[in-house]
Amino acid sequence: MNSHISTVFWGASDHAQFIAGVQHCIDHLASHAGIYTGDNLFTFQKNLSFLEDEPLMNAWRKHATDAVEQAILWRTSVLLGGVRNGLKLGGDFVEGGCYKGTSVRILCDAVDFGSSNKRWFLYDLFEHDPSTMSHHAMPEHGTQLYRSVLERFADVPNIIVKQGRIPEVLMESAPEKIAFMHLDMNNAEAEVGALEVLWERMVPGAMLVLDDYGWLAYRAQKLAEDAWLQVRGFHVIELPTGQGLVIKQ
Ligand SMILES: C[S@@+](CC[C@H](N)C(=O)[O-])C[C@H]1O[C@@H](n2cnc3c(N)ncnc32)[C@H](O)[C@@H]1O
Repeated sequence: MNSHISTVFWGASDHAQFIAGVQHCIDHLASHAGIYTGDNLFTFQKNLSFLEDEPLMNAWRKHATDAVEQAILWRTSVLLGGVRNGLKLGGDFVEGGCYKGTSVRILCDAVDFGSSNKRWFLYDLFEHDPSTMSHHAMPEHGTQLYRSVLERFADVPNIIVKQGRIPEVLMESAPEKIAFMHLDMNNAEAEVGALEVLWERMVPGAMLVLDDYGWLAYRAQKLAEDAWLQVRGFHVIELPTGQGLVIKQ
């Protein structure tokens, strides 16, 4: 039985002591099967089916190169569920924002997206201006990031990378029909702005994954999204990964 061990946890007052505590718990398990640690998850005696998903694991080993990208494997497997579902529906895919494009690169390889007849629209600012942007900067933000993401997907012609601010950039270019959407922008205004423009374009059966929905640090997003979706008769399913999941009907 496979396990996935990562020491990436957020929110500990003493990370080393916290990890020692997790290790102590592992040492006292009756069986060391099916353990997942990292990304603020600690589970055991689980199937962890995604670890047996060869297309996912091959792509993840190739493209998840830093500790956080590796720690969020379970989240990535949730996205893969949305992608595989979306491939059976009419419409294109949306990633807002994409940052380095790591999640999409893994998913793209896992399903051989380049051979599909769909397009995948990736949006991001790619640069960070603290005077005008409410979300936090990330290490690789800068003038080079847009070009580096373009290069990362140079071999996949149906990936469209757009630099700009959501929701404004959606007026320049966005799919008419959407079969899968992942919103991961760490700010409520941008995500509700995306919903305002794109929700009605999601086809029945399409999955929406809200990366930050379950995290206390991003509670403002959850509150804004709950209110926006409930008016339209939808409820978000909060997943243990911290993601929120909505299936459009
Ligand atoms: C956590 S990262 C995305 C990671 C990516 N989804 C992945 O899984 O690999 C969040 C990104 O959202 C972008 N972002 C935040 N607000 C935005 C907005 N209004 N329009 C476009 N991108 C935005 C940021 O620039 C940042 O790169």
